[in-house]
Amino acid sequence: MQTHTIALLDGDGIGPEIMAEAVKILRVAESRNGIRLELKHGAFGAGAWFSHGDSFPEATRQLCDRAGAILKGPIGLDHEQTEKIPVDMRPERGALLPLRRRFDTFANFRPVRLAGGLTHFSPLKPEIIAGGIDIMMIRELVGGLYFGAKESGRDDAGRRYVKETLEYDETQIERIARVAFETAQGRKKVLHNIHKSNVLKSSVLWNEVLGEVGGEFPGVEVRHILVDAAATYLCLNPRQFDVMVMENMFGDILSDQAGGILGSLGLMPSACLGPEKAYYEPSHGSAPDIAGKNIANPYSMIGSVAMLLDMSLGLRDEAGHVWQAMRSVFDQGYTTPDLARPGADSKTISTRAFGDLVAEHYAAAPATAS
Ligand code: IPM
Ligand code: MG
Repeated sequence: MQTHTIALLDGDGIGPEIMAEAVKILRVAESRNGIRLELKHGAFGAGAWFSHGDSFPEATRQLCDRAGAILKGPIGLDHEQTEKIPVDMRPERGALLPLRRRFDTFANFRPVRLAGGLTHFSPLKPEIIAGGIDIMMIRELVGGLYFGAKESGRDDAGRRYVKETLEYDETQIERIARVAFETAQGRKKVLHNIHKSNVLKSSVLWNEVLGEVGGEFPGVEVRHILVDAAATYLCLNPRQFDVMVMENMFGDILSDQAGGILGSLGLMPSACLGPEKAYYEPSHGSAPDIAGKNIANPYSMIGSVAMLLDMSLGLRDEAGHVWQAMRSVFDQGYTTPDLARPGADSKTISTRAFGDLVAEHYAAAPATAS
């Protein structure tokens, strides 16, 4: 029997409870496909700092090295707890960025999807969102400002200053551009390139290299949009977008905006692909204010499982069944509280109940021909 080892990094806040729902889905995938999934939990995030003195402990690093894929929950605790952790060891800088760097997960896929029947989740007017949206945001994940050299101190006049570096070389741009073109080629053959070349030299090089890679994909039409304008169009006319590609910080910001357009960051799963391994995570935070209450929305975490089944295990049809299972649960009027609308007759259910229903629907889906 084929065995896959998957590292589970529950993370902080709502992480463990939404991970528990993800595990239910992985167990269904296991029995449907006659495979064995060896699921191993590793400490990661702010909690790991308090328990192990390291937000990305060595044992977790080794577990991730051995695993075929990594499923990661959100990280971070409330302000008061965070203040107790030395700045450079806080979970973003001490765990998440090192995880991305370790596996060079440069290609971050953030699907922004809302089916036609679910557009009432969106705060946008029905006429703007009619028919639903289906965008694949592709974010460069290991370069730019977030990974550049940083410096701070006092200048000659005694003023405090800070300096952060935004760096990209052509190989970094080329590889993400290629991923974006390949993705666009497999979809509607339109690629929106998000940049800021009227101000940033990094965008000038970005556009140049992207244009060169585009030469290999004559069937894909490229549309260039400045990042600030893209933010406006995402609200005014999100349906014009299919595949969007952008550098690290632009992608961080626009993908959260996209979550807002869907109606909840709880609807934002993601995949982070590197040359040899990928990890999967919800794009949202750890929501410590609602942790442990069994009200968090596990959709992003379960969607991340769907992406893992597809992109790391090659089970594309199974991934489709998981998406469809979540859709069916929504279609029956069930939602977690983040998506409930005052006055609407949706049936608000708990984290666990949502996971159970999705698992049930998925288990009942037709078998995938192998
Ligand atoms: C994300 C998150 C991270 C990022 C944080 C937690 C460092 O916001 O994955 O979008 O900025 O990349
Ligand atoms: Mg973000």
